[in-house]
Amino acid sequence: MVNYELKIFTSTSAWSSTLNYVYIKLVGTNGESERTLVSGSTCFITNVVSCVTLTCHASLGELVLIEVDKQPFLMQYDNWFPAKVEVKSPEGKTYSFPIYRWIIDTLRVYEDHNHIGRYSREQELKQREKDYCWDEFASGIPHCMKTDDIHDLPCEVRFSFTKEIEFDFTAVTDLLQSKLHGLTESQKKWTTIDEIGRVFSCRTTEISEYIREHWMDDELFGYQFLNGVNPMMIRRCSALPSNFPVTDNMVFLHGQESLADEMSNGNIFLCDYKILDGVKTNTINGKKQYLMAPLVLLQKTPDGKLMPIAIQLKQDPAEDNPIFCPTDSEYDWLLAKIFVRSADSNVHQLNFHLLRTHLLAEVFAVSLLRNLPMVHPLYKLLIPHTRYTLQINFLARKKLISADGVFTQFTASGGEGMITILRSSLSSLTYSSLCMPEDIAERGLEDVPNFYYRDDGLKLWDIIHRFVKGVLSHYYKKDDEVQKDTELQKWIGDIFEHGFLSHEDTGVPQRFTTVDELIKFVTMVIFTGSVQHAAVNSGQYDFGGWMPNAPLTLQRPPPTKKGEATEATMLATLPDVNVTVQIMDTLWLLSQQSSDFVPLGQYPEDHFTEETPRKVISDFQGDLEVLSTTIRVKNRKLELPYPYLDPAEVENSVAI
Ligand code: FE2
Repeated sequence: MVNYELKIFTSTSAWSSTLNYVYIKLVGTNGESERTLVSGSTCFITNVVSCVTLTCHASLGELVLIEVDKQPFLMQYDNWFPAKVEVKSPEGKTYSFPIYRWIIDTLRVYEDHNHIGRYSREQELKQREKDYCWDEFASGIPHCMKTDDIHDLPCEVRFSFTKEIEFDFTAVTDLLQSKLHGLTESQKKWTTIDEIGRVFSCRTTEISEYIREHWMDDELFGYQFLNGVNPMMIRRCSALPSNFPVTDNMVFLHGQESLADEMSNGNIFLCDYKILDGVKTNTINGKKQYLMAPLVLLQKTPDGKLMPIAIQLKQDPAEDNPIFCPTDSEYDWLLAKIFVRSADSNVHQLNFHLLRTHLLAEVFAVSLLRNLPMVHPLYKLLIPHTRYTLQINFLARKKLISADGVFTQFTASGGEGMITILRSSLSSLTYSSLCMPEDIAERGLEDVPNFYYRDDGLKLWDIIHRFVKGVLSHYYKKDDEVQKDTELQKWIGDIFEHGFLSHEDTGVPQRFTTVDELIKFVTMVIFTGSVQHAAVNSGQYDFGGWMPNAPLTLQRPPPTKKGEATEATMLATLPDVNVTVQIMDTLWLLSQQSSDFVPLGQYPEDHFTEETPRKVISDFQGDLEVLSTTIRVKNRKLELPYPYLDPAEVENSVAI
């Protein structure tokens, strides 16, 4: 007789224990053990390691698989979340079988490179293809996971108990707070800016307070194109677009500078919202809403600031579409900036937040779950970066962009316009714009001063790239190993088809031919779901909580003539009370960090058991810690800190 010593680890997640009877069978190259009851008189409890001896007649050879199954206790099945099972063979070798999944009845966990393993691998993928199906929310946008009800989502991709309760609780209390004051029903206009301030003062952050104080300043207006919640629109301008006829006289009153010179010096920048041109706008509280497609020209000053110098609110130049300048009357200029901020907020939410982080992260996750088995190194590498993404996107489709969703009801682009913007955003999306070093270079922003999104983001890109390279080059030594990995090729094939709708001109790979290509793409996947999402998500309330800085809708058209706008015109243009508080509540909720937040590079589940990837992970964590300290030191010296890409504040996945 020989003994196998088993250590069974139950996860630290809430409700992970089981009262059920648990059986394990070991399968080796020379035979298999009896199916043996391992829970005995005890039960497996959260965060406890249970040690069990399993006796066999003879050695089973190399272990290739364990089969775990549960039988009900008092006729009841419960869910159990084991972390892993370690088995020490009579020969003294320790095998580790990572699990990290909910088990309702049976699960087979196997070592790779064996025909029994291969069979289980196929069975696992067949099941996953049934569990994770593609669906289309609207034509022309990335596909999503098919689920009609949140309870149909497999347990392994659902929120934890902690997150579910907190999320519901925060959502309910936020709405209750506004409801108590009767504001969610009030279709009145704001009559003074101070009135907005009273509501805003119920819930502020240090940064949102700063925004409230400085929202009218040109300096903050320019700053937000670099370090606000949407750092994605601005690009260096070397020639004015033909539909934006700004002249030297308009912007350089003393005649000492010229636009041509300033452009050739690299000091002129442009934000062009042409993607919004012709978009159908919403009707809110029975009133037509307005969304412009502005062009904004900015100049870098000798002291390194970015200042707006001209704004045209509609794409086609015309007499009733004036070019506004800082020298215009206070309210002409302020209104022009408000229309730009409103356009920017709509593009930010739909293109840069929803499409380019949430929806793409879902495609990467569904393709992973359908095509890669648990033992695949890419599954182990990426699964922690998909945590909660499927559920949060399901909720976004149900509560934010559904027919009665908050964004559909209360933003200028809500409804038909939203889909138009998502479609045109996807059709103009490129692979290089998802890869930060290329994106920054293409936009000509390498040497713009005080650009913290770029400075922190590029460092993070390099750190992630080094990490991904360390892990993947351990498994793929040569390009042909990548080419022959059919599971990997199916993963990227599905992403190309379901995420980028087979648009070849995006430059997104349809298959991988080299190890380097694979490393770059996987870097982009991790970067998008963690760093990029943090950049466009975490500051939503900081920059949007004070509504006049980022109104998601406006209810008057912009001035067609200069010199007529007053404070009253501005107040009549801003959204009504109910619209303001609904959006404020939502942005607050979406900017909250949950208590089971997992920061970038932390892997509470040990999917990798080999030494090399474990060492690479620990180096990755070390690099992130050093960067975190550097960013914190830098932020202490800034009047307005940029905390969003401090690795300790960046979540591993799109989870909110
Ligand atoms: Fe988000």
